[in-house]
Amino acid sequence: MENIIYLHGGVGGHTDYSERVRGYAMNSMTGDSLESAIHGVLQLEDDPDFNAGTGSYPRIDGSIQMDAAVMTEKTFGSVIAIEHVRNPVLVARDVMEKSPHVMMSGDGAIEFARKMGHGFYDVSTERTLERHIKMLTKIKEGTDSLNDKEKFIRDILGFGESTGDTVGAIARINGKFAVAVSTGGSVPMLRGRVGDTPIIGCGFYCGPKGGIVTTGIGEEIAKRMLCYNIYNQIGSDSLKNILDDAVKDFGDILVGIIAVTRDEYASSANGNMSTGIHIF
Ligand code: GLY
Repeated sequence: MENIIYLHGGVGGHTDYSERVRGYAMNSMTGDSLESAIHGVLQLEDDPDFNAGTGSYPRIDGSIQMDAAVMTEKTFGSVIAIEHVRNPVLVARDVMEKSPHVMMSGDGAIEFARKMGHGFYDVSTERTLERHIKMLTKIKEGTDSLNDKEKFIRDILGFGESTGDTVGAIARINGKFAVAVSTGGSVPMLRGRVGDTPIIGCGFYCGPKGGIVTTGIGEEIAKRMLCYNIYNQIGSDSLKNILDDAVKDFGDILVGIIAVTRDEYASSANGNMSTGIHIF
């Protein structure tokens, strides 16, 4: 069985970064699926053009809270709404490997991260701050083009443009699967909002039959428990058909999926999604 590292840089971006993502996939070659998946996401978190780690989008109040998760065929770890760390995916790994828990959130997750040696780090960039101001202006001005989420934010806060550009990785090395995901969330969003990314079965799932990770509007992905649902369909049809059908169910709500099974790999999205694969 060939080894595969499959990465995506999120759905809904206007620029195609696939060549860069392919390079990150190639750089992630190791002899271990978890190492490879984490290394893939780590590079995407450190690249300010992606909405994860450095370059994560602010919440409506200007704060930046991030979600990340890792999973092997046996266990998982995730962090929810973590702030001021450079690489949420590494903290998720520490939750899985060095704590008796599987999920940690908010202040407790930050305190845990500091104890594990993850120092203070400001992940904001000029690009995300400019975008934040543009979004606030749009919502404040309140044009007819606001979508439901933007209208909700406007109604409760007096304050759009939805994105879901989570990053994700799946590795199948020596026949074993692992996945990793990380995101700054799907804007616009309130402080404390949690999407699909850190929730097992929603933004990620991994087992002996394969690995699946998603990107897009987290609320809709979570409602469908999308990754677990797809995992349970593995083998019932071609992987590509399974993913295409799942994406069709979203209509024009932004979603992207990549998946690797024992004998197939595929992706499907209803918006531009940069992907990169390395097979060795
Ligand atoms: N898919 C990322 C999020 O909605 O938070």
